[in-house]
Amino acid sequence: MREKSEGFAPELGDMSAAEFRRFGHEVIDWVSDYLSTVGERPVLAQVRPGELMSQLPSSPPDEGEAFATILGDFDHFIPRALTHWNHPSFYAYFATSSSGPGILGELLTAAFDVKGMLWRTSPAAIELEQVALDWLRQMMGLDAGLDGIIYDTASVASMHAIAAARERLNLRIREDGMSGRADLPLLRVYVSDQAHSSIEKATITLGLGLRSVRKVRTDEEFRMDPLALARAIEEDKRDGVLPFCVVATVGTTSTSSIDPVPAIALICAEHQLWLHVDAAYAGSAAILPEMRQILDGAERADSLVTNPHKWLFTPFDLSVLYCRHMETLRRAFSLVPPAYLETSEAETVRNGSEYGIQLGRRFRALKLWMIIRYFGHHGLAARIREHCRLAQLLKGWITDAPDWEMLAPVPFALLCFRAAPRVEGETEEERETRLNALNESLLNNVNASGQIFLSHTRIKDAFTLRLSIGNIRTTEEHIRRAWQLLNEELARLV
Ligand SMILES: Cc1ncc(COP(=O)(O)O)c(C=O)c1O
Repeated sequence: MREKSEGFAPELGDMSAAEFRRFGHEVIDWVSDYLSTVGERPVLAQVRPGELMSQLPSSPPDEGEAFATILGDFDHFIPRALTHWNHPSFYAYFATSSSGPGILGELLTAAFDVKGMLWRTSPAAIELEQVALDWLRQMMGLDAGLDGIIYDTASVASMHAIAAARERLNLRIREDGMSGRADLPLLRVYVSDQAHSSIEKATITLGLGLRSVRKVRTDEEFRMDPLALARAIEEDKRDGVLPFCVVATVGTTSTSSIDPVPAIALICAEHQLWLHVDAAYAGSAAILPEMRQILDGAERADSLVTNPHKWLFTPFDLSVLYCRHMETLRRAFSLVPPAYLETSEAETVRNGSEYGIQLGRRFRALKLWMIIRYFGHHGLAARIREHCRLAQLLKGWITDAPDWEMLAPVPFALLCFRAAPRVEGETEEERETRLNALNESLLNNVNASGQIFLSHTRIKDAFTLRLSIGNIRTTEEHIRRAWQLLNEELARLV
């Protein structure tokens, strides 16, 4: 029998206020220590597959356990089985990190635990969302015709944008679906060959099918070729296909390239196609006045997605869809509410659940509102500007080093490069094979060191190192150390 004392759950009801206060302080102390020392931990999880599961009981406890014991086990087992995204030397994928005000915002969101499906279920959740997203819109220099709504991820936001684009066709797909219909042509979505796979997933989810996605070729800097887009649309029209949407990317996943949105927008206008801009990663950079031009053409876009959880120091998850046709988006998903959801104010307020597949919606706006207020527009811009400066600094070192080469331009804070030491008398093919193997070993070894974490991509078949700078805690010192480690490892390998 366990002892009934402070720290255990009472017979009924929640944790006592005194206990919550005590452990709440402990948890905040833990988080504060974690954030200030996370750089001393190995970036990558130090466990084998299945290791954590084998260390934990396979059945739940019958009786409650002391919260101190739970915290002790948490501290012992969990952090070492984590890959530390908040580590200043995390450079993989798109390096993203949370921030103090964002974490505190999340804590408060959990405390309120609203399910903001209707305005009435929490006016603050709906209205703060509108305020924070309008602030973000202004910071990004987007026009007031774009209205924002929060989803969990860019994948889901883009899916909703494509659903709205389809709804605009007035093909009764919402009512009759697409299956078994001889009257429907193949509907087409155009993306570049560098677009994120979330667009293909959206077409799978929406029943359009992968066949509906046409990939348009890109130029030598990985940007969609507008002439190739125009030709593809013409060809499809001649073949009886119905083009309805183009997705342009500002900041592609592999190299962060920028599609020529103004030229694409003209083509969309000519053919009356919905233009969706995927600025999931790079949209945040538009808050810098000197980088605002990356969103040129967005004034003609029908929708645009940006992820504060990528490069605006917002804890995952929070993705924003800006849309010029909220009514069309609503039409795509809104149903006559079941009686239990009817409210008298429905005509005058925004009920978030009408704009997507979810009913309940998290109060995500709170953390974004706190982040924007705490850092201010200038503070957020200064951090992103610093990441871009660090990227240019590293790019300079790579360009100047005889044994390394850059493989893509660096418009933001992502570097694509490789080690390329010379060997006399090699054919081009031999050189590529050798460099692919060398860079793969280099990546595996530096990652295994636990000191930094990079990811990779393939550029024209070349195994390419990807180093993304986006963590709020990353400094020039960390970048110098990463460069030193890469060079030390290269010296060991050759
Ligand atoms: C350009 C782009 N679009 C969309 C996504 C998907 O983002 P999310 O994880 O929010 O769905 C990514 C992810 O890296 C991305 O790089």
